[in-house]
Amino acid sequence: MASDSSPPEVADVPRVTTQTVQEMKEAGVPIAMLTAYDYTSARLFDRAGIDVLLVGDSASNVMAGNETTLPMTLDHMIYHTQCVVRGIDRALVAVDLPFGSYQGDEKEGLQSAIRVMKEGGAHAVKLEGGAPVIGTVKRIVESGIPVMGHLGLTPQSIHDFGTYQVRARDDEEANQLREDAKALEEAGCFALVLEKIPTELATEVTESLSIPTIGIGAGGETDGQVLVSHDALGLSTDFNPRFVRRYAELEDRIGDAISSYVQDVRSRSFPSDDESY
Ligand code: KIV
Repeated sequence: MASDSSPPEVADVPRVTTQTVQEMKEAGVPIAMLTAYDYTSARLFDRAGIDVLLVGDSASNVMAGNETTLPMTLDHMIYHTQCVVRGIDRALVAVDLPFGSYQGDEKEGLQSAIRVMKEGGAHAVKLEGGAPVIGTVKRIVESGIPVMGHLGLTPQSIHDFGTYQVRARDDEEANQLREDAKALEEAGCFALVLEKIPTELATEVTESLSIPTIGIGAGGETDGQVLVSHDALGLSTDFNPRFVRRYAELEDRIGDAISSYVQDVRSRSFPSDDESY
């Protein structure tokens, strides 16, 4: 992964830790993060040099076919985490605490984080929101579990927001986001995801924090970028927000491959003698 702009001492680490991503921010090396939910993908992404894998609760949408992330349970997240962790040698694995597993109180949040670490084998947890979850973040961090924050368009609050529009366009919400970002840093978060907010605000927050920010639909000045891997690979092409860049068109490629297989089975050209015993 090292290039002229990637100091080898940061980019070539055998294992990415929370300290590594902090050093990457300090060295100005952008952090590459993608979602992963299964062993095979995690293994591919890890070998390709991804820094952070997020076992996102977007598994609810892209793996389970739900409309929102709300149906994910802690057991679902732990299962996906176990699969991802088996596939990696280098990447840091952060895992979403699902809706309903930390909003109750600090103790519930801590117990959920402990399960994800102990049963899933995660390296860090991520949770959504600002002021209301600060106490929970502190409690989890104090127990030795690294926490990634998530502000802006936080999908677990979709029924409160009502739409997937860009957040924090008005002064009141932007000021709240600035305060929440500071509070999450002070509570001990090691990184912060900023989702679907204006570039100017994301840039300002990134400059004001000493911890790295990871953007999704937050412009090019955050310390890192994250995409849902199914979007980046063109596996779910009915979702086309402008912040997604497609690096492959796997929906078409897989569709073509499967129809070739069906044709070969129908025509009895598969299996051949060489493929038989
Ligand atoms: O669940 C998820 O995939 C996420 C990313 C969009 C940041 O939280």
